[in-house]
Amino acid sequence: MTLVTDLTSRKADTTAPLIHPLVERWSPRAYDPTAEVSTDVLRTILEAARWAPSANNTQPWRFIVARRGSDAFTTVHDALMGFNQAWADSAAVLIVNIAETADAEGKPRPWARYDLGQAVAHLTVQAQHEGLHTHQMGGFDGARIAQAFGLADHLEVVSITAIGVLGDVDALPEPLREREVAPRMRKPLDELVVAGE
Ligand SMILES: Cc1cc2nc3c(=O)[nH]c(=O)nc-3n(C[C@H](O)[C@H](O)[C@H](O)COP(=O)(O)O)c2cc1C
Repeated sequence: MTLVTDLTSRKADTTAPLIHPLVERWSPRAYDPTAEVSTDVLRTILEAARWAPSANNTQPWRFIVARRGSDAFTTVHDALMGFNQAWADSAAVLIVNIAETADAEGKPRPWARYDLGQAVAHLTVQAQHEGLHTHQMGGFDGARIAQAFGLADHLEVVSITAIGVLGDVDALPEPLREREVAPRMRKPLDELVVAGE
């Protein structure tokens, strides 16, 4: 059987109007294995992360940027859990998101992971605006990445973002394809607002 599934848009079914990149953003696993991200676009999406707000403007985010085909990409991909390895090799870029959890004197930065998450959110929205898709991952061996790239103790690998051009969903193995086409769900707003209006 030949499947032809168009997932170009998996638009969020919002209860209020949102800006376009937020409506269009979703986390695909099917990427075009031949597509590349230009240096200019890569710079643009990292610039979006750079201008995120952070506690006391400490900017405690650091990134390893690994393009498909590079040694760094292979190292990062090898450190992914199997369920992520199965699809992330098609992404054009893997970005390792790192929090600087203490300053130069060893004083903890309690908001470092929060700030990093916000910088990554900026990056994902800018990437969407550039016509790319992103998929964040928590399934990886952080110690392996830290060792491979010689990261200091105060640099914590928090997540990895796959970035690329949407590919053919029907090329995914069946369990992944099924997840790719499943309806997107969110809790209702009134469950999220726990007090006030
Ligand atoms: C911190 C974090 C860790 C995640 N880890 C994984 C992962 O290891 N593998 C995966 O396939 N998706 C992972 N995801 C993607 C989420 O499952 C996805 O964002 C969520 O289901 C909502 O879907 P959407 O992004 O398409 O709206 C992760 C997302 C985040 C933010």
